[in-house]
Amino acid sequence: ATPTVYVTRKVPEAGLARLRDRYEVVVRDEKLPPSKAHIERRLADLDADGLVCLLSDTIDADVLDASSDLSVVSTFSVGYDHIDLEAAIERDVAVGHTPGVLTETTADLAWALLMTCACRTVEGHAYVEADEWETWGPTLLTGPDVHGATLGIIGLGNIGTATARRAAGFGMAVRYSGRSRKPDREAELAEVGVDATYVDREELLAESDFVSLHVPLVESTEELIGASELRQMPDDSILVNTSRGGVVDTDALDTALEEGWIARAGLDVTDPEPLPGDHPLLRHAPSRLVVTPHIGSASIGTRDRMAEMVAACTEAGIEGEPLPHSARQDAGL
Ligand code: GLV
Ligand code: GLV
Repeated sequence: ATPTVYVTRKVPEAGLARLRDRYEVVVRDEKLPPSKAHIERRLADLDADGLVCLLSDTIDADVLDASSDLSVVSTFSVGYDHIDLEAAIERDVAVGHTPGVLTETTADLAWALLMTCACRTVEGHAYVEADEWETWGPTLLTGPDVHGATLGIIGLGNIGTATARRAAGFGMAVRYSGRSRKPDREAELAEVGVDATYVDREELLAESDFVSLHVPLVESTEELIGASELRQMPDDSILVNTSRGGVVDTDALDTALEEGWIARAGLDVTDPEPLPGDHPLLRHAPSRLVVTPHIGSASIGTRDRMAEMVAACTEAGIEGEPLPHSARQDAGL
């Protein structure tokens, strides 16, 4: 029989068309995520061989057990913290994801948030729209310089490196921290004139004007940025998070913004996520906080390439071939 693939939400046609060429493809065409029970039911009913999911779907042992034919789960994201990787390994279910294709797009958004917080663009727009713009002002909406400032990158992986590379155009000093020094990344950055210095996290927090987070969410990075880290940052510094909401302690950030431990934060990811419109954190917006709804990979071209990549991973998994991007391999497991 033709293998069946269940897709939890409509992804760009570029990927679906490729899957439809070879398989029965069932796409759940709804705006909101399915419940875990719904995914389990559908996988069981379809005896699905492949599952294409999003970062908003929880894929645990129950889901992996729902269809005994399941050989691959492909997530339309680089992050796979929503998938129980160990349970997948135990069941010999391959896990595909989409690194690489979204690296530059996410770095662009990190910079958009950095620039927004520094140049106060969202706040400025709100000011004009509120009809408060009466005259040119010598100190109206002044903020820090970006050029010549120090950028701290926590997690110098693909996206962290791409974010650091962009600092070349602004003549910034770059510091990075992480589990280990990355001479290859340093060399790659040196080629474009970025001198990236490996420092410990405390030093990075204390010395950076901008701190941008680029770690995956794993046990050791949960609430990596909490009260003590926020206190170590200069009071005119800016925090940017395009990684995962859980990397930052939301309550501590709320206090930091309230008490002025840092100047501003730009977040593309939040905890909770989605962040409800009436969440207390939003009382700091837009003067001290700017939030975007997890759109770090949201360029049209990148989303098409992600769709093609999930299709390629799904295909490889069903055919029993090595995945072009295996989460297991990328996690070093
Ligand atoms: C459709 O297949 C659905 O899962 O809702
Ligand atoms: C987005 O956050 C992703 O993991 O692709």
